Amino acid sequence: MRANHIFIIICSFCFGALIALWLYALEQQPKQVRLEGAGKALIGGPFTLIDQNGTQKSDTDFHGKYLLVYFGYSYCPDVCPTDLQKISRSLDMVKDRIDEIQPIFITVDPERDTAKQLKNYVSNFHPKLIGLTGSLDDIEKLKKAYKVYAIKVDENGKPTKNPKTDDYLMDHSPQTFLMGPDGQFIRYFRFSATAEIIANTLKKIIPTT
Ligand code: NI
Repeated sequence: MRANHIFIIICSFCFGALIALWLYALEQQPKQVRLEGAGKALIGGPFTLIDQNGTQKSDTDFHGKYLLVYFGYSYCPDVCPTDLQKISRSLDMVKDRIDEIQPIFITVDPERDTAKQLKNYVSNFHPKLIGLTGSLDDIEKLKKAYKVYAIKVDENGKPTKNPKTDDYLMDHSPQTFLMGPDGQFIRYFRFSATAEIIANTLKKIIPTT
């Protein structure tokens, strides 16, 4: 009886340890690899927009660079500035790879975010940050291509299609997309990703020059 009990205890312990190891291995497995396979053809796409200097920019102009693409709007009270600061800090951590990386802020609010407005806005963040705007149609297409959600809401967070004033907010998804030099989707970072997480991923993916 006693030996049986010990045997059962040892077995339970081994089983528990195996489960723990398996969970640990799952956690360690790079998530971007799983995302990569699933999302390569699904996220991103061609665009022709206007940058903060009024210059036309297409996706192909950025080929050869790793892109950090963020969709937001310059009137955003908190989420966008937080994320753009985070992206800027992550870029400061990968100075040896900075020539390979282009951070891009694409507005989801092109009606208020003119090139001039964006010029002023992006200057608050990283010197390499480019702001892009375009027609409502262009932006709508790109939102679909990146599966980005963004709608006009009033001060109570209620959707409002035609606000009476310019005093509206945009409820929008806050991912940062990492695109490869061929324009292909590599992975995205959630709002919870820290500057360190972004920097470490960039270090893993981008070779030093
Ligand atoms: Ni925002």
